[in-house]
Amino acid sequence: MDRLVIEGGNTLKGTINISGAKNAALPIMAAALLTDETCVINNVPALRDTDTMIRILRAMEAKVERKKERVSITGACGKLKAPYNLVSTMRASICVLGPLVAKRKFAEVSFPGGCIIGPRPIDLHLKGLEKLGAEIKIKSGYIIAKAKKLKGANIYLGGHFGSSVLATANTMMAATLAEGTTVIENAACEPEIVDLANFLISMGARIEGHSTPTVMITGVKKLHATNYKIISDRVETGTYALAGAITGGDLFLKGAKGAHLLAVIDKLRECGIHITEHKDGLRVKRKVRSKIKPASVTTLPYPGFPTDMQAQIMALLCLSDGISIITEKIYPERFIHVSELGRMGAQIILEGPNAIIKGVKSLSGADVMASDLRASAALVLAGLVAKQKTRVHRIYHLDRGYEELDKKLKNVGARIWREKEER
Ligand code: EPZ
Repeated sequence: MDRLVIEGGNTLKGTINISGAKNAALPIMAAALLTDETCVINNVPALRDTDTMIRILRAMEAKVERKKERVSITGACGKLKAPYNLVSTMRASICVLGPLVAKRKFAEVSFPGGCIIGPRPIDLHLKGLEKLGAEIKIKSGYIIAKAKKLKGANIYLGGHFGSSVLATANTMMAATLAEGTTVIENAACEPEIVDLANFLISMGARIEGHSTPTVMITGVKKLHATNYKIISDRVETGTYALAGAITGGDLFLKGAKGAHLLAVIDKLRECGIHITEHKDGLRVKRKVRSKIKPASVTTLPYPGFPTDMQAQIMALLCLSDGISIITEKIYPERFIHVSELGRMGAQIILEGPNAIIKGVKSLSGADVMASDLRASAALVLAGLVAKQKTRVHRIYHLDRGYEELDKKLKNVGARIWREKEER
């Protein structure tokens, strides 16, 4: 396994190209199972997670070819099972459930279980499919879904923590081939859901209201081949925006879409970071010695502040001139990075879903452990500005979600490299 070594203190300057959105690519690749024809998907980031989705599709005997960022999928699969060894490594594998039930009338998908960021139930996924007429059983750790025919329905898809991104995705995908009209209320409005809807529309689906909490899907008999380009990754964009901010740098994030990151941009401006939106990207600047203002951040479903940016903004607020509060309203236990940031000198108190952060003048490099994807990104950000060396261990999490992170940071002036862990 690799670790990342970072020698902090460099100001980052230059251009970073933003990759395709991981969280749009994963459900869109699964959606290709809704037709036997070939779907060409462009701008798919080269990540461990997109590789895992390819392995799942191949395990089901779908034909998948990858050439750089272009993935072609012919979804006429022979096997209808997503096995434990793959699903257990990536929760988004659950996205094959909706397309399989809709197109093949049967699916056997391993239960994804919880993960390091807290419990992650799937009741809303099952509710959506059951309302459409699927019969669902849990047997030996697998979700077994059958349907003679799916029929449109009115479905309220809100849970304890509000809307669900992938439950909306699963229900919407299944409804495209159901008989009649489906209305999903309290649907997720995330840009990745809008991208999925646009992909489905390009395959011949009839969908309205995507990007609002009420999505209407009128079932069609058949979907067809398409050639589609997925959106740029807003979380990768936000992470590099913070790399510019935390190092007092000047970065141009090429391909970034400011409209997908309004809450993050707003918060960064409140902290004193200069951000300008351009036709082809975002520019992020902070004067090295300017103070970072403290802030209060609450994570919420889109268009609120994304939970996937919570750890990264915490790294910045650790160096702010005062006291900040972060309230995590999507995953109240997603604070595994707090103790690792503490090892670098951060002062953070946790009280339930609230983190109270007292800004310090500087952080110092340390050996830290990457625990989940976004927590790992936060440790890298802290390492970029910390005194001395930071070693981020177990970085396979980062490879799940950030394409060539070390190379992209090195190109704009970071001292960062990979090393093999000694055994
Ligand atoms: C998506 O996960 C993202 N993953 C996550 O990104 C992201 O953190 C999350 O949305 C929230 O924005 C992908 O898109 C592949 P949810 P998802 O269902 O859809 C509760 C990353 O780092 N809930 O919107 O699985 C749930 O526990 C990853 O890239 C239920 O109660 O998340 C949470 O509190 C991590 N019942 C809330 O809803 C359900 O059936 C929102 O979760 C489903 C979810």
